[in-house]
Amino acid sequence: MKIGILTAGGDCPGINAAIRGVAKAAILGHNMKVIGITDGFSGLIHKEFVEITENNISGILTLGGTILGTSREKPFKKKKEEQDPEKVELIKKHYKEEKFDCIVCIGGNGTMKTASLLSKEGLNIIGIPKTIDNDVWGTDVTFGFDSAVNIATEAIDRLHTTANSHKRIMIIEVMGHKAGWIALYAGIAGGGDIILIPELPYDENIICKYLEHRALIQKKYSIVVVAEGIKTKDNIRAGEYISKVIQEKINYETRVTVLGYIQRGGTPTPIDRILATRYGTHAVDLIAEGNFGRMVAIHGNNITSIPLSEVEGKTRLVDPLFPLIRKARKIGTCFGDRMP
Ligand code: F6P
Repeated sequence: MKIGILTAGGDCPGINAAIRGVAKAAILGHNMKVIGITDGFSGLIHKEFVEITENNISGILTLGGTILGTSREKPFKKKKEEQDPEKVELIKKHYKEEKFDCIVCIGGNGTMKTASLLSKEGLNIIGIPKTIDNDVWGTDVTFGFDSAVNIATEAIDRLHTTANSHKRIMIIEVMGHKAGWIALYAGIAGGGDIILIPELPYDENIICKYLEHRALIQKKYSIVVVAEGIKTKDNIRAGEYISKVIQEKINYETRVTVLGYIQRGGTPTPIDRILATRYGTHAVDLIAEGNFGRMVAIHGNNITSIPLSEVEGKTRLVDPLFPLIRKARKIGTCFGDRMP
């Protein structure tokens, strides 16, 4: 068999571990030919291919980013000025010309949607979910998330000492446009006093009341962990907005840290390397069985798969009743919706 691999959407730690998992399992276990497609779906449109051998993936397990490059090309997305159906036709043409038996698409929600649509167009596709945001529907966790949580937690740890010295309110903005998974996990791991996520609408007065309460009980400083996707007024960035609210309403001294791309770059944690390897090898099992049109997933500690058509167009958000939120409330963490 001949398989292609592409990586699309925002990069994250662990992608190379997944590429390695797919390639090694395919080459060693099934003698498959493995072709790397560069820059996501753009490489399929422009026919940019490079053969992956055991040799040229040596040493990539620990590397962040993606050796194949990525792009946010969405061939099905309709833009007035573009002839998008042509892109899909080109992809189908190149798939046939190259005599691919399957394409493995490593990506987040957007990628899974394109993967599902290509599968409906008759191509053999397997999806592997990745993103630091952990918001791919149908799997308990995506690789990249653990690495991002580690980096964000370390950043919060470091904020504690400087916050304590200066008796300030430290606000840290982490990634997560729609889903607040990183803020939730890093916030709890780093001992954040207030955690704000897009899924739980906050009340500005509660935030201020809680900070005043903490000051009253002699807490010298507070840490506020904010997901970038929380609602703000006037298009002001999340962290900046919460800082403004606190200063205007109670005039406490605040400082804002926007963690940005640091949480998306660099080497994957062992947990992400292992998950990526499990996903990659399971993808090859599915290909060998001819079980296409599916996304590999983890449920509990079991690696499994679900139809791409079920994943298409969905986002895995934090349920406001998620057990971890309830546990955090018990230890006095404020989510901005009510006083703990
Ligand atoms: O990878 C997901 C994500 O990190 C989001 O949380 C973030 O907002 C977005 O990607 C930004 O990525 P880019 O600037 O590369 O589009």
